[in-house]
Amino acid sequence: MKLLFIGDVVGSPGRDMVSEYLPKLKDKYRPDVIIINGENAAGGRGITEKIYRGFLNLGAHAITLGNHTWDNKEIFQFIDDAKQLVRPANFPNGTPGKGMIFVKANGFEVAVISLQGRTFMPALDDPFQAANSLIKKARERTPIVFVDFHAEATSEKQAMGWYLDGKVSAVIGTHTHIQTADNRILPNGTAYLTDVGMTGPYDAILGMDRDAVVKKFLTGLPVRFDVPKNGRKLLSACIIDIHDKTGMAKKIDRILVNEDSPFLSE
Ligand SMILES: [Fe+2]
Repeated sequence: MKLLFIGDVVGSPGRDMVSEYLPKLKDKYRPDVIIINGENAAGGRGITEKIYRGFLNLGAHAITLGNHTWDNKEIFQFIDDAKQLVRPANFPNGTPGKGMIFVKANGFEVAVISLQGRTFMPALDDPFQAANSLIKKARERTPIVFVDFHAEATSEKQAMGWYLDGKVSAVIGTHTHIQTADNRILPNGTAYLTDVGMTGPYDAILGMDRDAVVKKFLTGLPVRFDVPKNGRKLLSACIIDIHDKTGMAKKIDRILVNEDSPFLSE
């Protein structure tokens, strides 16, 4: 089976790229399951119900989140009913939402797990221990287990990849917004990529207006970061080929669409 994962969709430029290219990516790669990280989809901060439903209407089966989960307050009104929304599983006990969901599509069942790192990020429960107990539960139902590891530090992401090698189908990093070139299948069959990259403004800094970010570095003053509405855009994703029965990965390819690397239908 094939799984398409689209990285951190930032604001309306990111949503426009998903609307424009998801149908083309479906034609080209024929994915059975589509997962989108949507934690920056509403103006760079959080997600709204309308955006969540929009992604589902375009064919997504699961939407993962991260450290910006709670930034758009609308989340508290719909997260309990949003069956295809996944927030980091290692948020403290009692947090609304779910850290693992099961999606069924094209005859496959996939466990989708979100975890958040702790290095250079807010203190949370241990993502490695959380992974352990969730994966046990997941594998009682299906061998196909996808992990979105939303983390800052490459070392922590690599550690999670190696820790889960052979236990899950894929460990794919999000959050740092720049696609890394280290896609590989680890020795025991887990697909790994340190960061899938972002989807949104191309001539910006991690999806935010670059003048504001530069000003922050120059002056250290508090600056409001906004998503630039106009300008060139990019889409970052990966496609993973997974053995139906064992749940182990056979192949992982990076996908990058921008003016320097245009989409090719073949
Ligand atoms: Fe993030």
